[in-house]
Amino acid sequence: MRSLSSVFLLLLSSTWAAALDIRADPSPTTEVQDGQTGTLIVLPPQATETGLKQIPDAAHPFVAPGPDDQRGPALNTLANHGYIPRNGIASFEEISLAMMEAFNLELMLGANMLANNILTQGNPFANKISIGGVSPLVPPLPGQIDGPVTGGIAKHGRFEGDASMTRADAFIGDNRLAAAWKVWRQRPGREQHRLQCCNLIGMKKQNIMMDQAANPKFEFAARRLNNAYAEASLLIDVFANGTTKQATLSIIGSFFRNQTFPPNWFRAASPVTGAIVANTVSQIVAAIPVQPGRNNAQGVPALRITTGPRTSPACL
Ligand code: HEM
Repeated sequence: MRSLSSVFLLLLSSTWAAALDIRADPSPTTEVQDGQTGTLIVLPPQATETGLKQIPDAAHPFVAPGPDDQRGPALNTLANHGYIPRNGIASFEEISLAMMEAFNLELMLGANMLANNILTQGNPFANKISIGGVSPLVPPLPGQIDGPVTGGIAKHGRFEGDASMTRADAFIGDNRLAAAWKVWRQRPGREQHRLQCCNLIGMKKQNIMMDQAANPKFEFAARRLNNAYAEASLLIDVFANGTTKQATLSIIGSFFRNQTFPPNWFRAASPVTGAIVANTVSQIVAAIPVQPGRNNAQGVPALRITTGPRTSPACL
């Protein structure tokens, strides 16, 4: 039960929010610290137009990134099409709105992932995050309370981590871009293969087994485990073409290899909610019930994967 003081605070904050009407002015400046202007982060309202829609529209053509533009493990397609700033530096509001418009991601699902990233790898004081690495456009937090630079979403060990499906472990190679996407090694010549949950399970098991053998610094902490399974589910729950509900390797490849929307691609016909993603995640968790862990000081794997990659006929 809520305590009296928390009820009071709730009332106070809602009265304050009503009086200020923060939505009318989404980013009023507040204070200056270390030369940075504090910027209020405001959760935009859930989009009301949430039907099937061809993406990109004419206002969002593909433009390849320039040498100074930030790119990393996610959100590159949104930047290349200008749904978020093309330089790869964006605010909470810009990314939230883009995820709803281009992917029909339900507001709270997208905002949750984003808040996690902006708090741990961005500058929430200035309301800025780099979708790649360190950028002069995203200063360190005032007082440098999280170190002298702000990492960006590719910073290893926060949200980004080992046993990824699309990129190398940071200790082994490029953890930013999916140039050598592991999936292609599994399904050569099968561009029209439809990715399903059982494929995700097989790939994720293989990622964990291969990476903990190859990477002496392999780590699969609890926070990483949750994120790794959730991101896997996005491959089929978000990238599927809204018209066919299928996520083929060709479609996924367009996002990850070419960082552009596939031809004739439509976003989902209704919002992709946390419940949809949780349904896929729970199947992965049930099939790969590993405990969080890391290789020991000698690099010896700690995680036990009891069965090999699943090869049910439905997945071939
Ligand atoms: C439309 C929304 C999004 C989709 C569909 C999406 C999808 C994905 C996918 C498929 C991966 C690859 C997972 C893997 O390699 O195993 C990934 C990785 C990642 N995403 Fe997103 N993402 C979305 C939004 C975001 C947002 C808003 C952020 C942060 C601002 C973010 C940060 C990351 C990070 C840091 C990784 C690397 C994690 C790792 O090491 O595997 N993503 N994302």
